[in-house]
Amino acid sequence: MSNKLNRVWRKEMYPPNNGNKRKSVSTRILLVALLAFGLSKCAAGQSLQVSSPNGVLRVVFSLQDGAPHYSVTRFGHEMIKPSRLGLVLRNAPSFRDGLRIVASETRSVDEIWTQPWGEKKDIRDHHNELRIVLARTGAPAGKMTVVFRVFDDGVGFRYEVADQPGFSEFEIMDELTEFALTGDHTAWWIGGYWWNRYEYLYRQSPVSVIDTASTTITMQTGDGLYISIHEAALTDYASMTLARKGEHTFEADLVPWSDGVKVKTAAPMKTPWRTIQIADTPGELITSYLVLNLNEPNKLSDVTWIKPGKYVGIWWEMHLQTSTWASGDKHGATTANTKRYIDFAAKCGFDGVLVEGWNIGWDGDWVENSELFSFTKAYDDFDIEGLSKYAAKKGVRLIGHNETSGGIANYERQMKDGFDLYQRLGVRAVKTGYVSHGQNIKRIDENGVEQREWQHGQYMVRHYRKAVEEAARHQIMLDVHESIHDTGIRRTYPNMMTREGARGQEYNAWANDGGNPPDHTVVIPFTRLLASPMDFTPGIFDLLFEEARPDNRVQTTLAKQLALYVVIYSPLHMAADLPENYEARPEPFQFIIDVPTDWQDTQVLHASIGNYLTIVRKDRNSQDWYLGSVTDEAGRVLQAPVYFLQPNMKYVAEIYGDGANADWQGNPYDMEITRQLVENTGSLTLRLAPGGGQAIRFRPATDEDIQKLSPAAD
Ligand code: NOJ
Repeated sequence: MSNKLNRVWRKEMYPPNNGNKRKSVSTRILLVALLAFGLSKCAAGQSLQVSSPNGVLRVVFSLQDGAPHYSVTRFGHEMIKPSRLGLVLRNAPSFRDGLRIVASETRSVDEIWTQPWGEKKDIRDHHNELRIVLARTGAPAGKMTVVFRVFDDGVGFRYEVADQPGFSEFEIMDELTEFALTGDHTAWWIGGYWWNRYEYLYRQSPVSVIDTASTTITMQTGDGLYISIHEAALTDYASMTLARKGEHTFEADLVPWSDGVKVKTAAPMKTPWRTIQIADTPGELITSYLVLNLNEPNKLSDVTWIKPGKYVGIWWEMHLQTSTWASGDKHGATTANTKRYIDFAAKCGFDGVLVEGWNIGWDGDWVENSELFSFTKAYDDFDIEGLSKYAAKKGVRLIGHNETSGGIANYERQMKDGFDLYQRLGVRAVKTGYVSHGQNIKRIDENGVEQREWQHGQYMVRHYRKAVEEAARHQIMLDVHESIHDTGIRRTYPNMMTREGARGQEYNAWANDGGNPPDHTVVIPFTRLLASPMDFTPGIFDLLFEEARPDNRVQTTLAKQLALYVVIYSPLHMAADLPENYEARPEPFQFIIDVPTDWQDTQVLHASIGNYLTIVRKDRNSQDWYLGSVTDEAGRVLQAPVYFLQPNMKYVAEIYGDGANADWQGNPYDMEITRQLVENTGSLTLRLAPGGGQAIRFRPATDEDIQKLSPAAD
């Protein structure tokens, strides 16, 4: 913290508070400080500050010659140097300088809320909040509030513009928010505005080589701390990217409309939260729920119809090019083929069958011809009514598929009719898709002229929200591909289940670069997956598919495919391979049948970005625990204490590990499935082959297990 900030008025608003509340809500307004006139005298250097509940993090807000700034310290050491705040507006006066503090207010929150589904059931929201009302000193008048929430694991802040004369409708031309880092940290990042949206391999580099980055961006500081910058509660605003300025300062760069405006809005309005997660270890970033905590509570009154689960689908065969989305001889979405998948799903106890290519519009260049898609009319060889009944009889549901190719007007025209139809047919989940490159989303403007928009600007943020709300009205869960980045809205709309927004399994089928290298899945848990669940579609068992796609393959061992079900969180997980490939390997497939998608708790045992990761999760509906451990191209031996199991209880560990000679390149199928008794005082040695992994189910042991698996007495 600079001396200048120390000199001016400041006050320790929150003493450390480590009170560990049980499941109760206690929101306390601690102190309301009205500073109306007192501070205006020293307007050149007003400051206020707020600390995290444990006192470790501190945010200092200051006005430097009337321009708002903030900084963040940890144990008194700078994490974010004094950084600009502010909004540049059109059709209303800006909030960039010439400001003074007219009021401030603080409160402390400590409550536990329950996720209807998720990676952890009960989430603690424990933070201290500081609200600062700023007024323009010159004419025309105007007020803006900056709100900070400081948690033990990071900081969120946003701007609010209250209803007031002169702000009925205005445009945000620039958001001045900066993140002035303290050094040239190592970053894991992908670029902003790259043509293929968020579907890139993450790069590892010093911050100083980045031009513009998407969020989440994760960094390691010189002294070994971890920082991740993102946003929370993106609602009717533009997505944020980060433009580098100087050596290692980022500045918010909002994705613009085609006319250059960043955000079209009206008072009262709130921006999304800008989030900075800070942790001692990379694993703590994974178990930080700061982004969810900054979202509004569930808005859906009835959530009983929202059900996590597993699905199979007519999907991988199109990516392997053994069948087509388009009609004709190789059409995948036929009645007969769908029945085959329904039978298979029913046999395995899976919940859904995704069918892509069921609807008219896939013939020809579907990426270009988005307006030809119908979301209600099926191809002649797909009996949608009969198949829905067939699925219902077998206890399975069809999963709808709406590929829009970015034709938003076409989709929005049909969305309600489509969802009406799916609801009537008993469809409970729809996968949407927005294949379109760069700034190529088609929007029809007020004059009927077609404009091309970015996938992540305000126009699309509005569209994705509209789709979630319309789906909720029809009791439909969404799985969104080519999505905007998630900012935690699943808390507010729990039917927003999962999304893509990164390179998933499909790249292994056809990417020109050969697919996802072994380290991809030990980078995305620390970057993209910090924002939300991902529909990665794990579980490919035919790893080489030499006949279908000789130039591609999956760059993992078989055991690693199983481990991904635990490592990557998704409430809807796909068993992505073809039924015949699972039928050929029933023993490892048992793990996919068993693994749940809804968890009571999640803990990280080992974490090193780009190298390895071990996660354990407790099933929400049984006493079982599951472990997933994955490595990059290096083989590793990791020791896993099983302290998380219930004490004084014997469990069977069903271990699906790499075999002694396994190696993703030369011997990917070598696998050993073993069983062993364990107790929470014990520990397991995880031997991960190069490009490999290990998956374990821990279930309470029966008497028979104990007899069979106990080492024989001499
Ligand atoms: C891209 C999606 O990610 C993929 O899952 C889907 O099969 C195709 N688009 C077609 O919609």
